[in-house]
Amino acid sequence: PLVNSKELFEKAYKEGYAVGAFNVNNMEIVQAITEAAGELNSPVILQVSSGARKYANARYLVHMVQAAVENNPNIPIVLHLDHGDSFELCKSCIDDGFTSVMIDYSGHSYEENVEVTRKVCEYAHDVKARGRYVTVEAELGTLAGVEDDVKVEFGKSSYTDPDQVQDFVKRTGVDSLAIAIGTSHGAYKFKAEQCTRNKDGILVPPPLRFDILKEVEKRLPGFPIVLHGSSSVPQEYVKIINEHGGKMPDAIGIPEDQLREAAKMAVCKINIDSDLRLGMTAAIRLHFDEHPDHFDPRQYLGDGRKNVKDVVKHKIVEVLGSNNKA
Ligand code: G3H
Ligand code: 13P
Ligand code: ZN
Ligand code: NA
Repeated sequence: PLVNSKELFEKAYKEGYAVGAFNVNNMEIVQAITEAAGELNSPVILQVSSGARKYANARYLVHMVQAAVENNPNIPIVLHLDHGDSFELCKSCIDDGFTSVMIDYSGHSYEENVEVTRKVCEYAHDVKARGRYVTVEAELGTLAGVEDDVKVEFGKSSYTDPDQVQDFVKRTGVDSLAIAIGTSHGAYKFKAEQCTRNKDGILVPPPLRFDILKEVEKRLPGFPIVLHGSSSVPQEYVKIINEHGGKMPDAIGIPEDQLREAAKMAVCKINIDSDLRLGMTAAIRLHFDEHPDHFDPRQYLGDGRKNVKDVVKHKIVEVLGSNNKA
């Protein structure tokens, strides 16, 4: 069924795992994610960014997700707005049938963030008005990297201040909170000079700030925390891409063992988009290299979809721990 994230997060918090939030942009991606989750009996969040709405047309996405819900009746599926940048956008998604929204005012002042988040919550939580409770995620702190059209420069990002979280949650009524502890969006999360090298010369990124996560957890006991920018940028996919006509030097992500640790803690939602893009792209590049005569989109998109499904299965079992939690 299509659900909001409330009970999903309560169970995830108690049982020490996280629910994967995967970005959807087309039919193959919706199918890949939901088939993987369905087969593993895992709850899943499908999230739609402003860019996805523009690319696919919001109505197509809503109906494709509804089809996926019908095809996978055994698992709870959340339809979530990723990085909503205004009250109006959140309202429009809620009115379109989304069961969850993110209002991301983290780039504005603290007081503006409180005010707009509070307003979105007031609308989303109005069960009397629409007969259902829509869950709301907000963000405190800013990640480095690209958030939709907003490009935060390296060094201009800021970690979440644990001193603000209690006040923020109390004043807004928000249901979950995204925090900045060193993750970032995209496939280039760190510059080489921020990393060290292991004995094989492989770049090792700076560790996530678990001290901040623990502090937040202490201030907000039982409250679900969200991690954005949590792709791991699998080097085997980067290699396939680079060996088959692509050019992605120095692509680097968050090590999966750290995300696994976070999933055991207060983190109840882990956002992954770039790894799906890499899986899709690697499969399609490989396909074209091996079959230069192919021109039927079903052939290469079929390979892409298969690979995205494998990525999602791997995340559910090896990183999130959400298998058999539906
Ligand atoms: O947070 C960013 C997500 O990966 C969505 O990216 O804005 O290019 O659709 P997008
Ligand atoms: P990645 O770019 O690390 O996949 O992050 C996705 C994300 O946070 C979407 O909101
Ligand atoms: Zn994000
Ligand atoms: Na957790």
